[in-house]
Amino acid sequence: MSELTVPRRIGKLPAVLKGAAVLRLRAKPAGWLGRITGRLSIRNKGEFNIGRNVSFYGKPFPSSITVEKGARLQVGDSVFFNYGLDIGCTRSICIGSHTIVGPMVNIMDSNFHPVDADDCTASKEIVIGDNVWIGRGAVILPGVTVGDNTVIAAGSVVTRSIPANVLAGGTPAKVIRDIRVPEGWIRRYE
Ligand SMILES: CC(C)(COP(=O)(O)OP(=O)(O)OC[C@H]1O[C@@H](n2cnc3c(N)ncnc32)[C@H](O)[C@@H]1OP(=O)(O)O)[C@@H](O)C(=O)NCCC(=O)NCCS
Repeated sequence: MSELTVPRRIGKLPAVLKGAAVLRLRAKPAGWLGRITGRLSIRNKGEFNIGRNVSFYGKPFPSSITVEKGARLQVGDSVFFNYGLDIGCTRSICIGSHTIVGPMVNIMDSNFHPVDADDCTASKEIVIGDNVWIGRGAVILPGVTVGDNTVIAAGSVVTRSIPANVLAGGTPAKVIRDIRVPEGWIRRYE
């Protein structure tokens, strides 16, 4: 996979990506990136690698990506992120190729606050496979793996790992049924 690495300091970003990070852009092709529409805010203090043809939407609601120091966010090729995206990466989040991330989706690998007093609130790696579709408003919580081709239904809260090739949904998300996936089938070309 060819990758674009998003530099840590906004000041060192190539012009178009700098714009993407801090300005509003309207459907402007951004080199290796597929397309950035609307407002995308990137705060990268760690490692953020993006494959080819990855598209972001930031309207009507802006999208936000935060990669903390020492953390690694990896995005494959031809991934589509719809508006209102909120990614909080404090350790490791890996998103496979040809995956569709619906509007208002939240992916966070840390709970950020303890539940109990003795809670260690450790960050836990998230892995989202290839050709996955995450429906509108879903929340992907720390430590979760979502297998290749799987669909996460709208509004789901994914608290435990979900296997490949299934429709899963609800709160907490459970497998609803197997889905039909012919060899090599990709849900969204572009
Ligand atoms: C995934 C989706 C398309 C449904 O797929 P489907 O194969 O047509 O599923 P069905 O409507 O036949 O429902 C199958 C079962 O899943 C349940 N289900 C469907 N959507 C659900 C949801 N969001 N949460 C929980 N359960 C859900 C249904 O109630 C049904 O359960 P039952 O068999 O007990 O009646 C739909 O849930 C969804 O998420 N749509 C929104 C997609 C989206 O976010 N698009 C934005 C652009 S990226």
